[in-house]
This record gives sequence, C-alpha cells and structure tokens, in this order.
Amino acid sequence: MYEGGFTYLLYRKPLLYDLAFSWSTGVEVDFYEAVFEEHAGGAEKVLELGCGTGRLMVEFAKRGYLVSGLDICFQMLRRARAKFEEQGLWNAEAYIADMCKFGARQCYDAAISALNTIGHLLTKESLRSHLECVAEALRPGGVYCIVFAPASEGRLAHTWTSAPEGVKVQCKWWRDGNRGRVVEKYLFTYRWSGGKSLILYGMMIMYAWELNEVIAAAREAGLEPVACYSDFSLSSRVELDEPCSRAILVLRRPVE
Ligand SMILES: C[S@@+](CC[C@H](N)C(=O)[O-])C[C@H]1O[C@@H](n2cnc3c(N)ncnc32)[C@H](O)[C@@H]1O
Repeated sequence: MYEGGFTYLLYRKPLLYDLAFSWSTGVEVDFYEAVFEEHAGGAEKVLELGCGTGRLMVEFAKRGYLVSGLDICFQMLRRARAKFEEQGLWNAEAYIADMCKFGARQCYDAAISALNTIGHLLTKESLRSHLECVAEALRPGGVYCIVFAPASEGRLAHTWTSAPEGVKVQCKWWRDGNRGRVVEKYLFTYRWSGGKSLILYGMMIMYAWELNEVIAAAREAGLEPVACYSDFSLSSRVELDEPCSRAILVLRRPVE
C-alpha cells in the first residue's frame, strides 16, 4: 500500500509507462491460460490486481475473457479505459480500488498480479489482507497467479530496450537492498524519431518478499500454494522452496 497515499511519478505518466513496457503480451497471457487450464480446469472470468494501463487486460479481452481490473491510481485507470473504448473491448472493465481492501464485484475463476505489483504491499498485514480479498473473490478451485521478484542474495537489476512506433526507450531498473523494505529505482531514456528526448528517473519504496513469507500469508488467508514457476512457461516449474530471481506463484482456493 502506498504510504501517505501518494501516487508514484511513473504511474502519473501512463503514456510514458506504456512506452517503456511496450513488449508483446502474448507470451505472458499464453502462460496464464496454460496455468488456468492446468490448475483451475480453465477460466472465463479473470481479475487483475493492480491492472495499471490494462497492458495485460487488453490481451485477455481480445481472447474473449470477461476481465476486470482494479488499481489505486486513476491516471493509470483512465488510460486503461480509453484503450478498452478505442478497441471496442466491452468485456473489459477497470475500477479504482485498493487491492488490500476491496469487495469483488463478481466471482472469478482466476486472478493475476504482474510485474511485482505485490512489492507495493509494505507490511505483512497488508499482504495478508490483500490475499484474503483475493480468496474471497475466487470461486472454489479458482487460482491466483502472482508474479514477483523475491528477496535475493544478489543485486536485482534489469536493463531492456523498448521500441514502440516512433520512439526508442532505454530502460534500467534496479533494487537497492535485498530483502524487506527496499528502494527500487528506474531510469528511462526516451528518444523520439523527430529528435525530441526525455529522461524519466524515479524511485519507489517496495517490499522484497521472501517466497515462504508469501506462501505463509496465503495459507493464513485460505489459499493453498499449488506450483511455482521461474518463467512464463510451464516447463520452468520449480520447487516451492527453490530460490529464483522471478517467482510466479500459483495459489488456489480449495474446493470445499
Ligand atoms: C508495476 S505496475 C503493474 C501494472 C500492470 N499490471 C502491468 O502489468 O503493466 C503496478 C500497479 O499497481 C498499482 N498499485 C499499487 N498499489 C496498489 C494498491 N494498494 N491497490 C491497487 N493498485 C495498486 C499501481 O498503481 C500500478 O498501476
């Protein structure tokens, strides 16, 4: 949860966010579909926690899912809604809510959170409250897929280049600290083909969760861990106690 209720700079600039995170979402959504099939017997209704600009929701909606998203930042949501409208995606809806205290509008077969969104939850209480809300939103047998960057011994750092039409973006993202509360920083350099350029630099206070902390909070909230993957492929399955730099944890609401 944001401390002090402010929204980070990056999320107040949704157009710049989308230019930096503009890679194709097909591989990610293929993977989620495979997970839903494998661990929940398929899904029709999907909920995204911290949906941002609808980067993934657009792909789910194009594939025919009924997809809902919630986010705490209205600038991100406004862009998500504009995309749904422009593309005629009547089966996607995004609304403002705190992922630690929301009542779901309907019952979902599956839920996801991507790009280390749970790192925004800074206390065990907020993580547990978040997982309780998600458990409540899922049908029995439904799954929650959490993509996050767990606490690690080494230094977490990523660089990538994004090249949507007419602009090239060099991106660096790194974490100061290894576990618990950490500072994550980013430096994005935008160069438009017309010659204009811009640098976006910022930082966020995040929480680097241990895999076993998330699993313990999930059990308390009534969700069972069923699998963990280290990449967007079912063949990347790892043991639940295996260290990895990216964890994709699948939790399931037990069938009563
Ligand atoms: C890294 S972005 C991910 C956005 C999107 N899921 C994607 O994959 O591009 C994290 C998102 O989580 C949202 N967020 C952070 N804390 C939140 C909270 N407590 N409740 C709801 N959304 C939150 C931010 O506003 C931001 O849009």
